[in-house]
Amino acid sequence: MCGIFAYLNFLVEKDRRFILNTLLNGLSRLEYRGYDSAGLAVDGASAEEIVVCREVGKVVVLRKLVESQAFDFDQTLVSHAGIAHTRWATHGQPTSYNAHPHRSSEKHEFTVVHNGIITNYKEIKTVLINKGYKFESDTDTEVVAKLAHYVYESHKSNNKANVTFSDLVKNVVKELEGAFALIFKSTHFPNEVVAARRGSPLLIGVKTSNKLKVDFVDVEFASADPEMRDGLLAPEAPLPNYARTQSRAFLSESGLPQPIEFFIASDPSAVVEHTKRVLYLEDDDIAHICEGELRIHRLRRDDDNTPMVRSIQTLEMEIAEIMKGSFDHFMQKEIFEQPESFFNTMRGRVNFEEHKVTLGGLKAYLSTIRRCRRIVFCACGTSYHSCLATRAIFEELTEIPVSVELASDFLDRKTPIFRDDVCVFVSQSGETADTILALRYCLERGALCVGVTNTVGSSISRETHCGVHINAGPEIGVASTKAYTSQFIALVMMAIQLSEDRSSMTNRRNEVIDELQQLPSKVKKVLEQDASLKQLAQDVLHKEKSLLIMGRGFQNATCLEGALKIKEVSYMHSEGILAGELKHGPLALIDENMPVILVMTKDSLYPKVENALNQVTSRKGQPIIICNEDDTAIETKYKTIRVPQTVDCLQGLLTIIPLQLLSYHLAVINGVNVDFPRNLAKSVTVE
Ligand code: F6R
Repeated sequence: MCGIFAYLNFLVEKDRRFILNTLLNGLSRLEYRGYDSAGLAVDGASAEEIVVCREVGKVVVLRKLVESQAFDFDQTLVSHAGIAHTRWATHGQPTSYNAHPHRSSEKHEFTVVHNGIITNYKEIKTVLINKGYKFESDTDTEVVAKLAHYVYESHKSNNKANVTFSDLVKNVVKELEGAFALIFKSTHFPNEVVAARRGSPLLIGVKTSNKLKVDFVDVEFASADPEMRDGLLAPEAPLPNYARTQSRAFLSESGLPQPIEFFIASDPSAVVEHTKRVLYLEDDDIAHICEGELRIHRLRRDDDNTPMVRSIQTLEMEIAEIMKGSFDHFMQKEIFEQPESFFNTMRGRVNFEEHKVTLGGLKAYLSTIRRCRRIVFCACGTSYHSCLATRAIFEELTEIPVSVELASDFLDRKTPIFRDDVCVFVSQSGETADTILALRYCLERGALCVGVTNTVGSSISRETHCGVHINAGPEIGVASTKAYTSQFIALVMMAIQLSEDRSSMTNRRNEVIDELQQLPSKVKKVLEQDASLKQLAQDVLHKEKSLLIMGRGFQNATCLEGALKIKEVSYMHSEGILAGELKHGPLALIDENMPVILVMTKDSLYPKVENALNQVTSRKGQPIIICNEDDTAIETKYKTIRVPQTVDCLQGLLTIIPLQLLSYHLAVINGVNVDFPRNLAKSVTVE
């Protein structure tokens, strides 16, 4: 799980300083995907000589290394191709020799950056070692660079003239198993790059003069190319179903090459500051940029139903949305953005006067969903918690049984799934590998698959039958905050829309819709407590080793999500405990020294949570209580965090905010780099 980036300028004069800065800035935007090491490859004195810079640590460290190089920073390069990478280690320690780009040989004939995992790299490595290749790293990626070299050399030795860069990469990619997004650069193909994807996201931004209007790129198949060499791992196997393909390219009406810039990235946030016109690659696409033209080739499969046109889309995100503004960290900014993100999730979808919800993406599927025999929510981490938080209201309003599954466990169990199931995949990034694999598993079994994501164009939003975009805006901080609350709201809206044919639910629906309208202003009131929560973190909690968070019913998800936030950003152990389970074990932990937060808001389970409070205090525990503003029954001897009251099923949207803020302040006090907690990455594109 890493971020990859490339920048190509064709007939556009840029100095080397600009090119290096563009690559480094692109990496900074992708750093949330991994920050163990970073690297880039650019041309040296000529395009036949590639210079690679790699460094352990974050992009700032790479920037220093780049600045110390003996480059002619003022040199103008009319056409150039550079590639770059920020790494989250999967194979091999975070060292400089494991950092990308990886190379085929000392001469850097082929350099490669990669996001994903090559699962059969050991077999390929063994074959290549037997052919005399020497490896310099512990990574799976290095085999790709060496394999490109091997393919190139075998083409030459077979006297097959004029292999193109894209044909060569097709031959490499067909040997690879696993998930990958790859970008190749080569001294043999100056100013060109080839990008390939299977299972990991990749998009291409295009910047042209206004005169050059391109709205889409065709992908066409032609007959299989007999010139293709046989498989490396199975040389006797018949020719694979690869095809030479054609695509419409970026030529002006005159047919002459035009000045153009391309930006290839794992994520649109790295591209949006340069251009809003992007094209998303599909699995098995191979994109070749050469002489200002983009050609997309595909590996032909008999069952290939992928559309043959890649349209150029216009990104709706603004550069301001991905900047920190006046905040110290993205996580802090995103917590404080919630009044707005709540509103944006509902905007244009909830008619508060008529008490009606319309989610356009589900419209055509409502009757199928209503007829299903069960709904399966499937997600990971925080997204899983949003499913837990909304299961009860979903079941109540729709009267359809809902099960909630952790995607990894769901796959481990090979859970039975049937054609009359509806499976809902919830994912901020839309690229989480476990969730995608669970989605594909359900698609194979014929279930209707619904996506709930924050990323337009992501794999989950493209591979599901229908879905809802949560519109929370880009979430950069590794710890998910505003996406959790927007997922929560999106799922509640979905339940309301599905239940609109049930008149027995009208009152309940109206009550929830009325309260949805009040949420943005109520969140603002919770956020006003930031200073006192900081004080609480400073005075009471930050030296503690552990923190238990308890609640039940609608607040169970708040406890689990609050505990996840605290452990992932402050590194303090924290556990969410269902208060009803207290006496079945966790009570043994309680004494006067064990910090406890109890979520005790006014709903039907209030008396039962009061029991838990008594169980804790009679063991000398001194809980901090998250309760409603007007709850005078809570004795003044307790420390309280007070939040406005709302309807029971939405209360979790307000009780989670103080826990997000507490985790943020604990992390800052503990000196953690909040937006980049150790060992984690924003988008988990590996199993
Ligand atoms: C925690 C967090 C993770 C993600 C999980 C799933 O703050 O962000 O637990 O929720 O990795 O990611 P998505 O939602 O992108 O599928």
